[in-house]
Amino acid sequence: MGVSRGEFSSRIGFIMAAAGSAVGLGNVWGFPTQTASNGGAAFVLVYLVLAFSLAYPAFMAEILIGRYGQANAVSSMEKMAKKAWQKKFAFLVGFGGIICAALILSFYGILAGWMMSFAVESAALIAGAQGVADWVTGGSVMRNLFFTTLFMFLTVFIIQRGVEDGIEKWSKRLMPMMIGLLILLIVYVLTLEGAQEGLSAYLNPDITRVLEPNLLLSALGQAFFSLSLGTSVMVIYGSYISKRENMVTIGAQVTLIDVSIAFLAGLLIIPSMYVAQAQGVQIFADDGSLLAGPALVFTVLPSLFEGMGNLGLFVGLAFFVLMSIAALTSSISMLEGPVSFVVERHNADRKKATLVIGMVILAISCAIISNIDLMLGLVATISTEYGQPIIAMLCCVYAGWIWQRNSLLEEIQNGYPEVGESFFWKIWPWYIKFVCPVAIGAVFIHSVL
Ligand code: PFF
Repeated sequence: MGVSRGEFSSRIGFIMAAAGSAVGLGNVWGFPTQTASNGGAAFVLVYLVLAFSLAYPAFMAEILIGRYGQANAVSSMEKMAKKAWQKKFAFLVGFGGIICAALILSFYGILAGWMMSFAVESAALIAGAQGVADWVTGGSVMRNLFFTTLFMFLTVFIIQRGVEDGIEKWSKRLMPMMIGLLILLIVYVLTLEGAQEGLSAYLNPDITRVLEPNLLLSALGQAFFSLSLGTSVMVIYGSYISKRENMVTIGAQVTLIDVSIAFLAGLLIIPSMYVAQAQGVQIFADDGSLLAGPALVFTVLPSLFEGMGNLGLFVGLAFFVLMSIAALTSSISMLEGPVSFVVERHNADRKKATLVIGMVILAISCAIISNIDLMLGLVATISTEYGQPIIAMLCCVYAGWIWQRNSLLEEIQNGYPEVGESFFWKIWPWYIKFVCPVAIGAVFIHSVL
């Protein structure tokens, strides 16, 4: 191969990077939106259970495959293949994940561009530049192209710098900033009129709804998207972790951070909606459900900020900067999948490979923008509702059925020598062999039907 690989310099470096990938628009936008449309706290409850009981085991399978392989997703998967068909299977899963990450990035970059444009709007209004503010929120094709390109260049800029100087350094800078902003905003919103009502809608579960099939499916899909599963991202991040680290705890910590931030985002968004209602903004759709999707983020919340007068400009700025940062720490992970593959398999120069791959993905984004009503939903559905669950399931099958049990145990023993006697080792292998593939398969079949 001849290319020197990076490694996270510290445990916290990996945790911040992996949590940075996991925490993104899915947490701050997707999770509260899903909560709003699936009966509030009942969804939160189901989400918490599924994230730890199904998404965490699948997440462990991916980071362990990566750390064992110490290479890009395809080479890592291929490393434990003994037979020719297993190698083909490994290639399919590894490469499929890389394509899936690239496709997600192509539409995610557009959404992230919207977040940046609303941040710029607040800044422009603070500076008194009304014309700029109107243009950046006007929704024109040019506006979309401009901000998507800007966002993609930021992503390329970080990934060109490699694991330690790029991913790790920026995740360590951006994640605490994002968490700080989130907490500040929550504290502020909870003091406003109407927030208490939102809080009780968010925190009191309607237990009768927890077994609704649609709610279960949405919660599982959300948990998989949030932990970036089925995209090769956690395999490649796992490959940069030192053999000295205890993977069982490190994986649990990342899952915990991801779930906690989704929960915190709900504490911000749902009460904000009720505060907006107290100010006369419509927050329920005609069928009585809470407004969700783009209407929530780009209509309800901006109306709320507007109603706060001058202070609202700063609150809006903080909110959309938070969203943009969350998106950036996720997008870098999506780009790392294809870049590490090309650099390691084809001995390519990292800077050039990153630029070229970034531009190819940007070209796909431009194609989506040219017919956004049709293409955005289509690409999102193909990559997140089909690609991610299938590949995540195949990773579990691979780790559970193809990876030899002794070799798997030896890998986990690096950094956790006594794992053989642990509760984790008693149940996890069964989980990835049977429970995860069946549950993910059920979600997939249901979403297809
Ligand atoms: N986990 C990210 C979020 O919740 O927004 C989205 C994501 C990141 C999906 C990386 C896929 C991926 F490879």
